[in-house]
Formats: sequence, structure tokens, C-alpha cells
Amino acid sequence: MHIDILTLFPPMVESFFTSSIMSRAVEKGLVDYSIINFRDFATDPHHKCDDLPYGGGAGMVLKCDPLCKALESIGARDKRVIYPSPSGRLFTQSYAQELSGEESLVFICGHYEGLDQRVIDTYVDDEISIGDYVLSSGESATTVIIDAVYRLLDGVIASESLEDESFSDQLLEYPQYTRPERYCTKSVPDVLLSGHHERIATWRVFRKLEKTMLSRPEVLSRASLDLEVRRRLIDLINEMKG
Ligand code: ADE
Repeated sequence: MHIDILTLFPPMVESFFTSSIMSRAVEKGLVDYSIINFRDFATDPHHKCDDLPYGGGAGMVLKCDPLCKALESIGARDKRVIYPSPSGRLFTQSYAQELSGEESLVFICGHYEGLDQRVIDTYVDDEISIGDYVLSSGESATTVIIDAVYRLLDGVIASESLEDESFSDQLLEYPQYTRPERYCTKSVPDVLLSGHHERIATWRVFRKLEKTMLSRPEVLSRASLDLEVRRRLIDLINEMKG
């Protein structure tokens, strides 16, 4: 997958590509990327990229010209262009899955009061919000979206890890433990030390249901659970009722 990122602050995204799992994906050739400072496309003497909003109001708006020139330089009309913004469609695991099927993605990192609407109308395919809160820059939202997408590419992460994790079966993940068996006053649940695979699997399903029910009940109501899991859920509700 090729990823282009248009930003006024390249260091905010550079470290993401040169660290941890992403740096290995880049080394393996599974991901390649270009970070484009669109200030380089501003032609005025001060390389100005923002201006006051028409109609008045607070803040500054990112101008059309430097952004459009940067987008044309990478052939953005033929690529899927994403603009992370609090007014976009909500980002989810299934949205990440859909984007992971693309050969290339372009991200425009907004700042201040956002982009001139004409840039959005001409180039942007997806305006995406990562949650109902406002960040001060589009760079952090961009790296959140890229992180959720690239790890789904074949070869980045072991497929068993992807199968086990939160949202892969529309439930939150079960709790994990590692050595030592006892730390301070807390012990690892006995069942995980039993070596009994079926009991461990049942325990994990219970804990997933419990965690989802307590933390994100609305996720549970959307999940399409198979009959066995629904039975476990009823058992759990009865157990909780006492
Ligand atoms: N930029 C600022 N806030 C954002 C949000 N919640 N999601 C995506 N991009 C943003």
C-alpha cells in the first residue's frame, strides 16, 4: 500500500513511520509512504497556506492553491483521498477493513478552522472523524486511521492475533496475563494455568461478553452472536443477577 500524507508539520507523522511495527512493514515493502509539506507549493514570498474566512469568524482556513498543487503533484484525482475531520463519518473497524483493500491512500492533515470547502469538493473521497471530540491537528487523527488500516495488510501482523482482538467478532477482547503467576497481591486466574483448552476458551468468551456488557453495551446490541455465545450471554446475565 502506498500512503501520501499532506501536512504542514512533517515531524508529527515521520516518527510514526520509523518506529515499531510500521517501520518493519516499511522495511518489508508492505507499506511505502511520502510525506509532503504542502507549504512547499505556496508561491507567495511568505509561503502562506492559510487566510481569514470569508464571512468573518474565528481562526484561519487552509487556502486552495498550495493544497491543490500538492494534490495534483501526486495524481490525487486517481487515488482515494481522506480528510480527517470532526465533521466526517465515524471511523470504525469495518471502515478500516474497507480502506485496507486500497492500493493507495492520500491523507490531508487539516489545521486551524479546516480546509477551503472547494478542496474538499474537488478531491476528497472520505471525510472521516475518529470520534466525537475536537483535536488541534489532523496529524494525530491521520496516524490513528493509518494505524488501524495498515496492520490489517497481509504480512504485517500474524493472522491469529487479528482474529483474537477486539471488534474482530464485534466483542471487546478478553483480559490477558503473563508471568509471574502472582504479582503483589494479584494472581493469574486458575483456569489459564489449567492447560485445559476448552475451559480456557469458555472462560475467554465469558470475559469478552462481560467486558463488552459493562464497557460498551451498545456494541453488544449490534453484534451478530452465534447461538452458543448467546447461550453463554444468558448464563452470564443470570450469574450477574446472582
Ligand atoms: N481533526 C480534529 N478533530 C478530529 C476528529 N475528531 N477526527 C478526525 N479529525 C479531526
